[in-house]
Amino acid sequence: MSEIKSVTAVEILDSRGRPTLLATCQLADGSMGQASVPSGASTGAAEALELRDGDPQRHRGLGCLKAVAHINREINHAVAGKTFDVQFELDRALIKLDGTVNKARLGANAILGVSLAFCRAQAAQRQQPLYAHLSQIVNTQPFLPRPMINLFSGGAHAGGQVAVQDVQIVAPAAQSIRRALEVTADVFRAAADLTLDRYGMRLLTADEGGLAPPFESSDAMLLTAAEAIETAGYRPGEDVALTVDVAASQFHADGIYHLDDSELDGAQMVDKIESWTRRFPIISVEDGLDEADWAGWQLLYKRLDTRQLILGDDLLCTNPSRIERAISSEAANSLLLKVNQIGTLTEALEALRLARKARWKIVVSARSGETEDNWLADLATGWAGDFIKVGSITQSERLAKYNRLLYLEQMDGLRLRN
Ligand code: PGA
Ligand code: ZN
Repeated sequence: MSEIKSVTAVEILDSRGRPTLLATCQLADGSMGQASVPSGASTGAAEALELRDGDPQRHRGLGCLKAVAHINREINHAVAGKTFDVQFELDRALIKLDGTVNKARLGANAILGVSLAFCRAQAAQRQQPLYAHLSQIVNTQPFLPRPMINLFSGGAHAGGQVAVQDVQIVAPAAQSIRRALEVTADVFRAAADLTLDRYGMRLLTADEGGLAPPFESSDAMLLTAAEAIETAGYRPGEDVALTVDVAASQFHADGIYHLDDSELDGAQMVDKIESWTRRFPIISVEDGLDEADWAGWQLLYKRLDTRQLILGDDLLCTNPSRIERAISSEAANSLLLKVNQIGTLTEALEALRLARKARWKIVVSARSGETEDNWLADLATGWAGDFIKVGSITQSERLAKYNRLLYLEQMDGLRLRN
């Protein structure tokens, strides 16, 4: 039993220097939980609404004071003094209070902040680490997720110098988080040296800390990633594999994919992706097609090897009804799980359960705008995600999550999921 004493919030800044919020939940017995909310740049159209102030005088309209005020006033008024036994009860009350389908009234950022802060407060009340509490909510054994680490970025996460948004690396055979991070750090350094030699400048980093050299094409970005694996002394595909977030909705308009200098229709885009998977050691393709191009997704599903992850981010938006459609129409086989796309832990859990029932793989993901909060590492562990996608290894808002995984591995004896 958890009686809420108060929920409060303050506006803070994320890793892009844009406002977000930090929510605090105090329970009547003195237990307390806090959580801060991330924010995306290449957002899906079906995401729950992140409430921004729209006041051009502050942070170009991106202030979060309205969402903060919703927590401090209306949400606090509705939940203070009430008892919620389980997460589901609180989340259901928040959804009802908001009353819209996409959380547009109170804001998904306000609602998620409270949902997460309550979860942390309950974990504190039970004197459990957050991951253990989260694993009990799902009723599953906790496992550490395998990191998918950002190497190169283009698209909306860099200057748009190439169309494809992110190329990541995975150490598929590593037996620990520590080893996976060692291997990926070697490849990251090799990639930095290679691109520095080639482009002769100090490299700019993108929103998630990936390298963003002025590649001449998306193909060149993939080719350089494959080269970096070999330069670092690893076997491509065996020791280190690639994953790619095409984020195709960002360069799709009126049925045409504007991939760098080419204009492709859906079938040609599928041909292109298939050719990448033949040329490079790619094990996962995220958002290969536009979020509304269901026919293109179905074609890709037929064309790729079933062991490949056909991973839906903007397509699915962690939204149970979109996931159901993708399962029944064979449009994807893996879920990118971003809790703030849907707005409460309970709805994200429903998404996870649906995906697991269909034997999908789960990639738990951060946003390109993050904070130093590490709750995502506990969520990915407690919910036993297959992978975690947090970005690069060069910025503290990313490392907060990797370092938490390292801690859980070494102090709590948790193991990687295989
Ligand atoms: P976002 O990007 O957080 O900017 O939406 C992450 C992703 O596309 O996976
Ligand atoms: Zn994505």
